[in-house]
Amino acid sequence: MDWILAALLGYALGAVPFGLLLALAMGQGDIRKIGSGNIGATNVLRTGKKGLAAATLLLDLGKGLAAVLLAWRFLPDAAGFAALGAVLGHCFPVWLRFKGGKGVATLAGVCFGLAWQVGLAYALVWIGVLAVTRISSAGGMSAALAAPVAAALLGRMELVPVLAGLAVLVIWLHRANLARLRAGTEPRIGGAK
Ligand code: G3P
Repeated sequence: MDWILAALLGYALGAVPFGLLLALAMGQGDIRKIGSGNIGATNVLRTGKKGLAAATLLLDLGKGLAAVLLAWRFLPDAAGFAALGAVLGHCFPVWLRFKGGKGVATLAGVCFGLAWQVGLAYALVWIGVLAVTRISSAGGMSAALAAPVAAALLGRMELVPVLAGLAVLVIWLHRANLARLRAGTEPRIGGAK
């Protein structure tokens, strides 16, 4: 039963749509109606409010981290299910008719919670690819792919299935971004909208 509780705990935390709530609270309107329509930090940044985007990033990351740390504390055998639940909650929140974000920041928090070295690898790849390309989706997808590889290299084979599954999910959720990348029309951070 622990796995059900852990998955529900993760989902409940992950399903809090911080980007949408913060943008609404700060008078920026419905974030789903601007830019890519995504509820994540990248799209919040398109409002021009850098602080709001940073807060969205930290809170989306924090909920993934909190889900896994709480599971380690109370349901230690089921932390992987909390991780899965948190990213699924962010991507498919019941409150938004299951239309949520793309999971990149929440997956970062989950990685730090599961194994800080995997989180570090995730963050380095994310920041590195973002710094070179200035394309948020490229950074996020690269980091998601790096997570199961890092877990395997660290000998944490028990983490590989959940991280590989979540990497596939994150990339699938970026299919519109992939189409824009192929067409050369994916916007760059700080570039023309
Ligand atoms: O985390 C989402 C990011 O990778 C892409 O966001 O708004 O450009 O689709 P967006």
